Parts: sequence; structure tokens; C-alpha cells
Amino acid sequence: MLNSWVFRLALVLGAVSAITPNNPIRTVIAFAVIGYVVTISIIPRLGASFIKIGLKGKDMSKPPPVSEIPETMGLVAALTYMFLMFGLIPFIFFKYLVSFGSMSDDAVVASNYIEQYLAVANNRLFPHNKLAEFLSAVLCLQSTVILGFLDDLFDIRWRHKFFIPAVTSLPLLIVYYVDFSVTSVVIPRFVSDFPGGYFLINVINWISKYGNHLVTLVTGLSFRTLQTDYVVPDSTPKLLDLGIFYYGYMSAVSIFAPNSINILAGINGLEVGQSLVLAVIFLINDFCYLSSEKISQAAHDSHLLSVIFIVPFVGVSLALLQYNWFPARVFVGDTYCYFSGMVFASVGILGHFSKTLLIFLLPQIINFIYSVPQLFNIVPCPRHRLPKFDVKDGLMYPSYGELKSKKGISNALLSFLELFKLVKLERDKSGAITRFSNLTIINLLLVWFGPLREDHLCTLILGIQFVIGVSMLTVRHTVGPWLFGYDNLSWGVK
Ligand code: UD1
Ligand code: MG
Repeated sequence: MLNSWVFRLALVLGAVSAITPNNPIRTVIAFAVIGYVVTISIIPRLGASFIKIGLKGKDMSKPPPVSEIPETMGLVAALTYMFLMFGLIPFIFFKYLVSFGSMSDDAVVASNYIEQYLAVANNRLFPHNKLAEFLSAVLCLQSTVILGFLDDLFDIRWRHKFFIPAVTSLPLLIVYYVDFSVTSVVIPRFVSDFPGGYFLINVINWISKYGNHLVTLVTGLSFRTLQTDYVVPDSTPKLLDLGIFYYGYMSAVSIFAPNSINILAGINGLEVGQSLVLAVIFLINDFCYLSSEKISQAAHDSHLLSVIFIVPFVGVSLALLQYNWFPARVFVGDTYCYFSGMVFASVGILGHFSKTLLIFLLPQIINFIYSVPQLFNIVPCPRHRLPKFDVKDGLMYPSYGELKSKKGISNALLSFLELFKLVKLERDKSGAITRFSNLTIINLLLVWFGPLREDHLCTLILGIQFVIGVSMLTVRHTVGPWLFGYDNLSWGVK
């Protein structure tokens, strides 16, 4: 039914008729449906053209003969998304746009004006000052897509491409600076209550204070938020103003989110699947805020902005997943991984929940930390670390890295990991390590649970990610407020 053009046309017509000014959530859902239909219709039509210009790859986990399939198809989803976001601008900001041109007489103009004024004054609708944020996120995503695509075209070196997102996030950080400039973080109560906790806070405060003074001296710009000039206030919640260091942190988040999605990859459906699971977790979190009566207008606006960016992302990603799910007919490319990571980084930064964002990315963080020995070449890192496909039984097995040096830190590290069953090692007759399972959580799950079929493995990872995400969501709103002694939304515990 999904393939029938009549059904798709009906979906688009239904979506278009649902678009309405002054109801951003309903409008973005309609846009997501349009994005879904456009993406799912364009992908099969562009496959041959992508292959023709060399954007193709071989699926390493399929029995021979393996034919090449289009790579970088995430570009279609990302561009469709960008066009949707451009198209959304007039609808999201509709109530602020006064169109006198279409009015016939003064009375109509006046009543229209009053209506719009009342709509703004009385309702919790999308505020005008969010336009700068909206555009900065769109600009950031657009440059991420361009640079991600260049990476797919030229296969940029890992050590170079790693920092690309920091450059593309600059528009976000500049709007953040101009718009809010909030750079203070809440100090968890257990830290200040702990013996020596105050001393630690004062040391960090001192480093932050003089670091920031130095930056202000050199650049002439002040990055601080608090009037108190970095004195820790006694009021609850206690805040620590990190100033320029907070911008460093946000920049690190924008580097981490795209790269961590790109390295949790290599089996059909995983890049898009994990992005969709993240999107669902983000949306649950957003709707907890949006459905709560007692939250501030600022928190409401932040989470509405998050919904506006994530819902269309779900639409285009669902279409891409249909082609990338096992057995994949297209690969998504690094373009999609960077784009997806940056969608989450942008809403986390602009929505002031970049710390919550990190706990939602816990599986990616675990995979990243686990990968560090390979990423930083403490132990060898092959070009591909994806699991190994066995033609005989059609199952995926852990893939291995070869250890050339017989001594040193790499041996000690691998033996240490082995103690906790965190790696599978192969040794020669003398007992020296020769091979180790590649350090990704994908391989680790295969070490723990035995060989699995590719789609079962992907479903297992996505299932674990979802359970961790929901647990983190619960922890964020229950244990979080208790630890920090403060929350902008809490379920019972305060
Ligand atoms: C990252 C990983 C690499 C992993 C690769 C797979 C790190 C440091 N890098 O590299 O270990 O092997 O992603 O995406 O962790 N492919 C499949 N099946 C899939 C997806 C991809 O066989 O479901 C293969 C295809 O040959 C495809 C290629 O991987 O052409 C794409 O790899 P690419 O995204 O360029 O690798 P990186 O992102 O550099
Ligand atoms: Mg990749």
C-alpha cells in the first residue's frame, strides 16, 4: 500500500490540509508526513545516479555475489529536511506576519491586527525572538550537511573530519551568546554537601573566573552570566558560572554527537535506527514539559523548538530507514550521521538541555569511551570495525584487530579489559596476544551473546538503547532533581 502513488498522494493532501497557522505542533506533524512521502519517493529514483558518480558501497555482510548499492542516500533525507525547515518558517511565525496587501478595507486591517495581537498576548505560542535561534540552527545543519557530503565524496581523514562539527556549530554558539549567554551550571547538592565539596567548587570557580578574565582581556568580550562576577551565590540552586568554558563544552557536544553516531555503525539500519530511537526519547522528554502546567515560558519555548526540529527529522528518517533496514538497498553515508547528530546537538544547545542530551546519548558515549584505545591508536584500529559476516551460517561474528607489538601498554590494556569480559582475545602458543575483538559495543554484544543475524543484532542494539534512554529519562526527572536540589520539571521529588 505504501508504494501506491494514490496512497502517497492522499497522505500529502491530508498533510497539506492539516497545516495551520498558530498551531506549530500540528503543522510540523503535517510537514513530517510530507517529508516522509518526498524522501521515500525520491530515494529509489536517485539510486542509479548516485552509483554513476561513484557514490556506492559494497555491503560487507551479505553472501556473494554482492552488488554495489548507493551510498550517501542520507543526503536525500537531509536535503528534504532542510527544505521543510525553510518552508516551516512562515507557518511557525505566521501570527507575527501582518499581510496588509491582501486586506480590502481599514476595518478588516484593524480587526486582523487586533486578532493577531491578542493571539500573541494571550497564548503560549511560538515567540518571535525564536526566529534567530531557528535560523542559526538551520544554518548550522545546512553547513553540516555540506561538509558531511564533502566527507562522503573525498573520504576526509578521521583526524580532520572529527573537528568539522565544531566549525559548523559556530552560528549556534554566536546566537546563544547574543540571545541568552547563560553559562552557569547548577551545582549538584551532593557535591556542595560532601566534605571538601566547597573547596572543590571554589577551586573550579577560581580557575573559571581568572580564565574568563584572561579571555575578556584578550578578546574584549565577556562570556559570563552572573552579576556576581563568579562568586558562588548562597541561594538555592547554587550556580557555577563557567563563562567561556561553557562555550568550549557546547562546542565539544557538537563534535561528540555527530561523531558518536558515525562510529556506532556498520550494520544495516543502525545509523538511522539509533537516530530514530533518540528522536523518540527526545520527544517524550519534550512532551513531559509541554504537557506540564507549571513550567516556565522559557522551558515551554525551548521544548517546543525541540519538537519543531525533531518531528520533521522523524518523517525523513523513517523513509530512509525503510531503504536502509536489512537487507539494505541503500547506505546512508557520513552525511546522514553528521546531520542527525547535529539535529540533536542543536536542539540540546538552543533548548538549554545540553547536559540532559548527554545522558540520552549514553549508549553512544559508552561506545565512544570503549573505542578510545582504537580511536587514539593505543591499540591498532582497522579501517572497518564492523562485525564479520560468516557466509556458512549467515550470522554476524565479532571482528578482530591484529596486535603486532607483543609488549607495552596495548597488551596491559587488553588484558585488563579481558578480566572484566570486555574483550575477546586470541593468543599464540607462548600466550602472547595476537588478536582482539574490535572495541565497539556491537562486537561486544556478539562476544557476550554469541553470533546473531544482522537484523536481530540491530534490533537488540536499538532495544537496549531504548531501555537505557527511557531509564535515563526517568532518572533525569526523579533522581536528578534530588541530586541537584533543583529541577525545572520534576515528578514528585524536589
Ligand atoms: C565508521 C567506523 C568503522 C565502520 C564504518 C561502517 C570507526 C572509527 N569507524 O567509519 O569502523 O566500519 O563506520 O559504517 O568506528 N557498511 C556495511 N553495512 C552497513 C553500513 C556500512 O557494509 O550497514 C560498509 C559499506 O561498505 C559502506 C561503508 O561501510 O560503504 C561505509 O563506511 P563509512 O561510513 O565510510 O565508514 P566511517 O564512517 O569512516
Ligand atoms: Mg560512516
